[in-house]
Amino acid sequence: MLTLLTAMYLVVRSASAQAEPIRVLVTGAAGQIAYSLLFSIAKGDVFGKDQPIILVLLDIPPMLPVLDGVVMELQDCALPLLREVIPTDKVEVGFKNLDAAILVGSMPRKEGMERKDLLKANVAIFKSQGAALEKYAKKTVKVLVVGNPANTNCLIASKSAPSIPKENFSCLTRLDHNRASAQVAMRVGVSTGDVKNVIIWGNHSSTQYPDVNHALINLDGEEVCAYDAVKDDSWLKGNFITTVQQRGAEVIKARKLSSAMSAAKAICDHMRDIWFGTSDGEFVSMGVYSTGNSYGVPDDLMYSFPVMIKNKSWKVVDGLSINDFSRAKMDATAAELIEERDTALAFLGV
Ligand SMILES: NC(=O)c1ccc[n+]([C@@H]2O[C@H](COP(=O)([O-])OP(=O)(O)OC[C@H]3O[C@@H](n4cnc5c(N)ncnc54)[C@H](O)[C@@H]3O)[C@@H](O)[C@H]2O)c1
Ligand SMILES: *[C@@H]1O[C@H](CO)[C@@H](O)[C@H](O)[C@H]1NC(C)=O
Ligand SMILES: *[C@@H]1O[C@H](CO)[C@@H](O)[C@H](O)[C@H]1NC(C)=O
Ligand SMILES: *[C@@H]1O[C@H](CO)[C@@H](O)[C@H](O)[C@H]1NC(C)=O
Repeated sequence: MLTLLTAMYLVVRSASAQAEPIRVLVTGAAGQIAYSLLFSIAKGDVFGKDQPIILVLLDIPPMLPVLDGVVMELQDCALPLLREVIPTDKVEVGFKNLDAAILVGSMPRKEGMERKDLLKANVAIFKSQGAALEKYAKKTVKVLVVGNPANTNCLIASKSAPSIPKENFSCLTRLDHNRASAQVAMRVGVSTGDVKNVIIWGNHSSTQYPDVNHALINLDGEEVCAYDAVKDDSWLKGNFITTVQQRGAEVIKARKLSSAMSAAKAICDHMRDIWFGTSDGEFVSMGVYSTGNSYGVPDDLMYSFPVMIKNKSWKVVDGLSINDFSRAKMDATAAELIEERDTALAFLGV
């Protein structure tokens, strides 16, 4: 019996050891988010403990020497799932045959740079990376955009890769989602694991709307609405919202650098949920393509919604009640995205 079990175990093990590696691209790979992110991906936190990985690292030419250091460190981690690391500054190498693309690199705001010029530079980057996805990646590639302005960059990339389904593009608002869960958990005195179904609506910016009207807190095995668990409506409608909205700026003030460890963790959560799905009864926040059919959000925007994910495809959680307080905040963040989209599309020449 024991030998039979051992034999079966060995068969399973060797089958999983033979799984085809997937190809995962991280751009901005010499940057600070990537420094936390690459390790987690390479050790199996995102695509599973049995899934071998080829990591492709893209950055701009002046960063290639830094990238070499990152490659050495990844090798020195001696991670069994990591089959190959490919550093490059060329999109035709970087985007080839991809299963997943995590687009972290973007043009940062420089001293005295106008918002319009920043947007223009990013439209150029995400147009060319979208075109590279179109030309070189698998049609089933899952694309996550992190580099800011993430929502609009994601829309531009998707429009530049017309043969890849729009549903396969998403942008990161999971960091905001995680921040909201953590604030509520700390306030109630429970673990973040006991908080679910907070929502981030809209843009990844200070106009985002963190909404806990549908959030549930596990108090000693019983699920309670956030308002009943927190018992402080004015905090939930005031300081809670501004704390989440301003959190990125607060981290920069303290660290003199933007959020990196927490951003990397959120990227892992987001991509893992795309790969393996969300738990029953649970939803998460993701910037996804709005078709105009959910919550009165205009179409042709990448807008953060509550989504459930099954079999690598997401669905917006429809039918949640929206009060007037929420409505106004959801519309304000949509208006901001419309304005940014229209400026970006003018740069794109459409
Ligand atoms: N959506 C979110 O929740 C969220 C959270 C945190 C940070 N961000 C954004 O993520 C981005 C990266 O943050 P970071 O702290 O790692 O920045 P960083 O400056 O440390 O690293 C960015 C890297 O991107 C590279 N890069 C620039 N243009 C590139 C291009 N065209 N192709 C490939 N690489 C390119 C840079 O050379 C640099 O190495 C920023 O835009 C930041 O605003 C988003
Ligand atoms: C939307 O959010 C991004 C990311 O924070 C920000 O850079 C951008 O300016 C916001 N859009 C507008 C129009 O304010
Ligand atoms: C999952 O998605 C794949 C690819 O789109 C499809 O072929 C398959 O039938 C789906 N499976 C289920 C259970 O929905
Ligand atoms: C991506 O596209 C494929 C093929 O059309 C589809 O089966 C899959 O559900 C899409 N993935 C997501 C995350 O929507």
